[in-house]
Amino acid sequence: MPQRLFELELLKKTNPGINQVHVFEEIDSTNNEARRIIESGAPGVNLVVADSQTAGRGRRGRAWVSPAGGLYLSLTSPMPAEVRELQALSLVAAISTRQSLDEWSLRETRLKWPNDIMIGDKKIAGILLELQRCKDVNQLIFGIGINYSLSAGEKADIDRPVIDLREVTEVLPSRGQVIAKLCANLLQNVERFIHNGFSPFKLIWNKYDQYLGSGIVIKDGKSEKNGKSLGVNEKGELMLVTEHGEELITGGEVAPSLQKLNRSKNCDT
Ligand code: BTN
Repeated sequence: MPQRLFELELLKKTNPGINQVHVFEEIDSTNNEARRIIESGAPGVNLVVADSQTAGRGRRGRAWVSPAGGLYLSLTSPMPAEVRELQALSLVAAISTRQSLDEWSLRETRLKWPNDIMIGDKKIAGILLELQRCKDVNQLIFGIGINYSLSAGEKADIDRPVIDLREVTEVLPSRGQVIAKLCANLLQNVERFIHNGFSPFKLIWNKYDQYLGSGIVIKDGKSEKNGKSLGVNEKGELMLVTEHGEELITGGEVAPSLQKLNRSKNCDT
C-alpha cells in the first residue's frame, strides 16, 4: 500500500471521530482551507494536512515559514454554544501537542504560555487557534505546525531558534503516526474541556511550564510587562507578580526576561 494511503488508514483507525481527512501537497494555509471547508457546510470534525504551505500563518499576524520539512495540520471542531472561555483551548492544544511529541522525544518537551512547545530554549511546535461562526455554530480551527525534519537551510530561514523532531528522536516516527497520535490526544482533551473547562488541565500545564517561578516579560506588540510567573489559574490565565502586585494576563506572549538569562539555571528570582 502506498505510504500516504497507509497513513490515512492509520488516521481513520485511530481517530474514528474525524469525519473527513483532506490531504494536500501544497496549500496556502491549512487554516484557510479549514475555514473554506467549514463555509462549504461540511459536517463534523475535519482534518486538513499539507506537506507545505505558501502562506502559512502564525500568531499575532506573523508568517509561519512552511517548507516541506515541516508538518502542517488544521483540525476543525464544532463547539456547543454553552462552552465558554474558548481561548483556554489554545493551551489545551499545546498540552495535547506536547503530550504527543513526548512519545518520541528523547529530550524534555515543555510549554511556553500561551501555546508554544519548546525543547530547551528552541521552539519545536506552535499553535494558531481560530474561531469561525457558521450557521449559528461555533467552529474552532486548531492550526498546528511542527518542526518535523527541517534542513539546515530551512532552519536558517526561520527568525528564531528552532529544533525539529528528527534531532530529538532515535527513530523518527512517520508523519502519519505523529498526526494520528496528536489528533487522538487533542480530540480527547477537547472533549474533556467541553465537560469540565480548563481546571483539570491547570496542574498539567504548570508541571510542564518552562518559566514557572521565573522572571519573564509579557509582550503584546505594544507594551511589555516584567514580573515573575506563578503559572496558570483554572481559566488558563497567566498569573504574574509585578512590582504593582499580582496581575492576570490574558493576551500577549511570554519571553524570558534578561534577569533569567543572566542567572544560573537552578536559581529562582
Ligand atoms: C505560532 O506559533 O505563531 C503559531 C503557528 C501555527 C502554524 C500552523 S501550521 C498549520 C496551520 N496553518 C497555518 O497557516 N498556521 C497553522
